[in-house]
Amino acid sequence: MFRRLALTCAALLGIVSAQLTVTSPGTNDWWVASSANTLSWTCSTSPYQNFTILLTNSNPSVLSAPLAIIAVQQNYDCSETITQQQSAQPAGTGYIVQFASTLNITDIYAQSEPFEIKALGSSYPTTTSSAGSSATGTSSTTAGAAQASKTGGTLAGYVPVGMSMVAALALGLVVA
Ligand SMILES: *[C@@H]1O[C@H](CO)[C@@H](O)[C@H](O)[C@H]1NC(C)=O
Ligand SMILES: *[C@@H]1O[C@H](CO)[C@@H](O)[C@H](O)[C@H]1NC(C)=O
Repeated sequence: MFRRLALTCAALLGIVSAQLTVTSPGTNDWWVASSANTLSWTCSTSPYQNFTILLTNSNPSVLSAPLAIIAVQQNYDCSETITQQQSAQPAGTGYIVQFASTLNITDIYAQSEPFEIKALGSSYPTTTSSAGSSATGTSSTTAGAAQASKTGGTLAGYVPVGMSMVAALALGLVVA
């Protein structure tokens, strides 16, 4: 059982492109439930122009199927603030964000490290200073590969309505 799981993980990792990397969230870079959270990736080396953002959990009692939280995300945005509704998942560990083809969500381009969604009211990780740069008072930028330069135009990337429809679509595609 464990061996099969390990093989599945290895197969998944094999698919993942080395050029598109999810830089946040990650192992020490959690989200806070029902709050604004940061999603960022290596847009400058990404071979993909756009992707669908999915939230998954290895524990089906936490999340029974991949949940599409952004139907079409443009690569050039480089990072996104995940809105309150989009991150309104129960607190827990083992969450993974997947970047998939917009045409075929089982074609996974990249995925994050497993990360935790902490309970509402928990503090944000100190390393993700870009979390809600307009929401928090501080404006220190992240160092390293994230290059999280937020522009005002990222709102266009949001999918404010129809989330449950998208989720249903995701479910249907997964079942099919
Ligand atoms: C997504 O990118 C593909 C090219 O990879 C392009 O053909 C398509 O029009 C783009 N879709 C959107 C919604 O931007
Ligand atoms: C979707 O992607 C998966 C994984 O790459 C692939 O096995 C499958 O054939 C694709 N389905 C379609 C309809 O292209």
